Amino acid sequence: MTNTILSFSLIDAEFRNTGLERSENLAKDLEWFKDQGHNIPEPSDPGVCYAGFLEDLSEKDPQAFICHFYNIYFAHSAGGRMIGKKVAEKILDKKQLEFYKWDGDLPLLLQNVREKLNKVSEGWTREEKNHCLEETDKSFKYSGDILRLILI
Ligand code: HEM
Repeated sequence: MTNTILSFSLIDAEFRNTGLERSENLAKDLEWFKDQGHNIPEPSDPGVCYAGFLEDLSEKDPQAFICHFYNIYFAHSAGGRMIGKKVAEKILDKKQLEFYKWDGDLPLLLQNVREKLNKVSEGWTREEKNHCLEETDKSFKYSGDILRLILI
């Protein structure tokens, strides 16, 4: 328990305000879509379900939480950017959405977070590291369910 509390304090200290956060930019994009006459739907089941799952992990399982943290932010900056570019080319007249703009140099922001991830995980036991890695399946499953909404 003490270890868990320590891990959460470290996560709080290291992984807030990394510059990778997307919520504000996403909110701007939603406003833009609204201005274009689109209806902004309520969050659908896969998103609500994943958000609830992450909130739960954030209170009780730091290693698993960090796995999702890594995958989400790094996926958006890698494959996500490629998908965003394709979508912009095909249906947005090449408009670059705010979601794909980062304040500052993205490779540098990513490198900073990579270093922090390595630093935090140095304090973990082999079992805790394995636990973090094994969470990858769930990370892809939950994000995949959200990604598949694009097909509807
Ligand atoms: C249609 C689905 C997806 C496509 C087309 C895709 C595509 C890609 C591509 C092309 C890269 C390499 C980018 C580069 O080398 O710069 C990448 C990296 C990555 N993807 Fe995906 N991806 C998809 C889904 C996902 C999902 C669901 C996750 C997990 C939530 C994920 C997590 C990652 C991570 C962690 C990286 C490594 C980023 C890094 O090392 O900086 N991807 N993806």
